[in-house]
Amino acid sequence: MTIRPSVLVTRAVFDDVLERLRAHFDVETNDRDEVYPRAELIARLAGKDGALTTGSERIDEEVLAASPRLRVVSNIAVGYNNFDMAAFDKRGVLGTNTPDVLTETTADFGFALMMSAARRMAESEHFLRRGEWTKWSLTMFAGTDVHGATLGILGMGRIGQAIARRGALGFGMPVIYHNRSRLDPSIEKALNARYVSKTELLQQADHLVLVVPYSPASHHAIGAPELGLMKPSATLTNIARGGVVDDAALARALAAGQLAAAGLDVFEGEPSVNPALLGLPNVVLTPHIASATLATRRAMAHLACDNLIAGLGCGPHAGQPPTPINPRVLSPRPD
Ligand code: GLV
Repeated sequence: MTIRPSVLVTRAVFDDVLERLRAHFDVETNDRDEVYPRAELIARLAGKDGALTTGSERIDEEVLAASPRLRVVSNIAVGYNNFDMAAFDKRGVLGTNTPDVLTETTADFGFALMMSAARRMAESEHFLRRGEWTKWSLTMFAGTDVHGATLGILGMGRIGQAIARRGALGFGMPVIYHNRSRLDPSIEKALNARYVSKTELLQQADHLVLVVPYSPASHHAIGAPELGLMKPSATLTNIARGGVVDDAALARALAAGQLAAAGLDVFEGEPSVNPALLGLPNVVLTPHIASATLATRRAMAHLACDNLIAGLGCGPHAGQPPTPINPRVLSPRPD
């Protein structure tokens, strides 16, 4: 009798995803859908061959050392800053993520958040709900135009490009961007996009959207000095990761009128949110939902499931997970 691999699914997922996993594996689920305290995560992973995780679980050397059987950890997210990839490589563990399937949905949300900040949608909606709307007036909640304004993008990967496309083609926005590498000139042309230094990006953007992955290098990429370079009429939208922005510095800048407004879907230390941000009217706050449409969350969960099944050597694509992060651990290194 062959022993079936066993896997941990760290959070609640769709029933059909669990059914697909159960066709190959012994599956332990988290029906309460609460984030496991770290010690419990470590205890539950011990003896597992694979795991389906979310950005809420930190998988690092300590976790991997305590789970020597673990071969694949499949994240239901495109970002994988919750994985210590050096530890994965060292231990020959495959990490996978869910790119592509969330690109357009996330870009839609980033654009909407930017528009909400620019046009003061949340602030004015709260005012209306509080019963404070007694008359129309010429400058009530007058915001900043989006169409024709300069769209700045920090991090011009798939999602950044999808946002640029919306701005350039739908809203007639000149696009400026800063990225580790420059795009091919043909893509720049199609996106009406110009590569600029980070300083120029900060100084010239009317609406700056952050889509850069989180890493020690991008920690507080936007802090007090950077905010100080922005136009007082500008908006800042963060759909990247908490930690890319210094939230305390942003709250101070918003309160001081150093920039007009912000839209934030991600936060340092989330799900906690800096209380200084909670008290400000000119910031739209959402709970990390940029990829949250049912269709996209289903696509992400199924892609993560494909990765786990194939990564553990099962199913029609055994050994060839569709979106590995460190495929180098899949094949033996040449001598
Ligand atoms: C969400 O933040 C993701 O990385 O998919």
